[in-house]
Amino acid sequence: MKLWGGRFQKGTAKNVDDFNSSIRFDQRMYKQDIKGSIAHATMLGRQNIIPKEDAEKIVAGLNGILADIDAGKIEFEIDAEDIHMNIEKILIERIGDSGKKLHTGRSRNDQVALDIRMYLMDEIKEIEGMLKRTLDTIVNLAALHTETIMPGYTHLQKAQPITLAHHLMAYFEMFKRDYDRLSDCKKRTNVMPLGSGALAGTTYPLDREFVASELGFDSVTLNSLDGVSDRDFVIELASCLSIIMMHLSRFCEELILWSSHEFSFVEMDDAYSTGSSIMPQKKNPDVAELIRGKTGRVYGHLMGLLTTMKGLPLAYNKDMQEDKEPIFDAIDTVKLCLPVFCDMISTMTVKKQAMLQGAKGGFTNATDVADYLVKKGLPFREAHEIVGKMVFYALENNKTLDEFTIEEFKSCSPVFETDIYSAISMATCVNDRKVIGGPAKETVEKAIASAKEYIKRL
Ligand code: ARG
Repeated sequence: MKLWGGRFQKGTAKNVDDFNSSIRFDQRMYKQDIKGSIAHATMLGRQNIIPKEDAEKIVAGLNGILADIDAGKIEFEIDAEDIHMNIEKILIERIGDSGKKLHTGRSRNDQVALDIRMYLMDEIKEIEGMLKRTLDTIVNLAALHTETIMPGYTHLQKAQPITLAHHLMAYFEMFKRDYDRLSDCKKRTNVMPLGSGALAGTTYPLDREFVASELGFDSVTLNSLDGVSDRDFVIELASCLSIIMMHLSRFCEELILWSSHEFSFVEMDDAYSTGSSIMPQKKNPDVAELIRGKTGRVYGHLMGLLTTMKGLPLAYNKDMQEDKEPIFDAIDTVKLCLPVFCDMISTMTVKKQAMLQGAKGGFTNATDVADYLVKKGLPFREAHEIVGKMVFYALENNKTLDEFTIEEFKSCSPVFETDIYSAISMATCVNDRKVIGGPAKETVEKAIASAKEYIKRL
């Protein structure tokens, strides 16, 4: 019989058991469920809501079940619906009547809200660890490339020279925001809902604050309806995870481009590439592509969760059982992608010469020629027009700006002197951009130093 079977004249249909049951996917919360029940039972004993001996038996029984699940000795039952009732049922089988007192003053509605919050807290901490490693990997790679000049792009057209370190540190900023966002999301997850009951709290003198501190929560939920019906924190996490994937995906897209023959800026290590079953010459950036591809499923889960919640009247509705598979899969996906991404970028070969060559083409120093004229007293708009004409001339004559003879320079504007050559070299273009946030070697070195400090504080 079901734990809730008293009111029923017959059992549920077989296909309804399968349909209703969430044990397939919510069993991964068994540790949190048991820890939560131990705290609840301990509190019930302390408050004399149930006899202390019963509370002790319950705690011992639950610890035994935990050890047995850890050891793979327990088979869950579809009929027992979910992880909460599976564990309660096993407890009652093992310790008898005392076990029947565990659910006093509690509903599965506040129990599942507790479990999912605890589970997500644990996962967030793990993902934070992986993000920390990602930040570390990026900074270490950047430190090797503060002089590796490459073209910077807008519209995927060559724009101005930068360094690979500067480019990498842009991703550092993104993943740093991801880390901060996760920490922020943790604040709203870190609230203890037990005591909300089914929806209207309970008449028992529960000590909610005791349970919260036993379980390491910062505070308790302040409205029983909200306590059982809030899944904002699940959606927030899905959104944080989506943004992480978006960042990974942008980086991977660049790596895919850069490893194409046309760019040849990087080459993935053999261990992070795959071949083709028909074309013998192929070396494909599958890992980067798959990370880019997996971004779609995480976004999908965010949309799914928002849609599941959008029309739900207060308080708990069974629809909310549908929160688990998407958020679990989003978590699994991010946890799969981050480490392989770190390994892939720390083993790739950077082709510095090709990057430098790339930076030299496409008139990436045109702005610097204009800035040179401005420093000699011309208004910027006038300088812009002169350099525009110079680019047109250069294209016609198939040369770069630094290949102009001094006579050619002077025929474009009399203010040009021979110092123009050093003023528009790739290294000057990069290293004169010392403004905070700019690509100059010394500026990026400072950014790397403060990034390392940031990582140390995590
Ligand atoms: N398995 C359910 C879930 O994941 C637990 C709560 C069920 N509560 C209920 N009243 N049916 O949401």
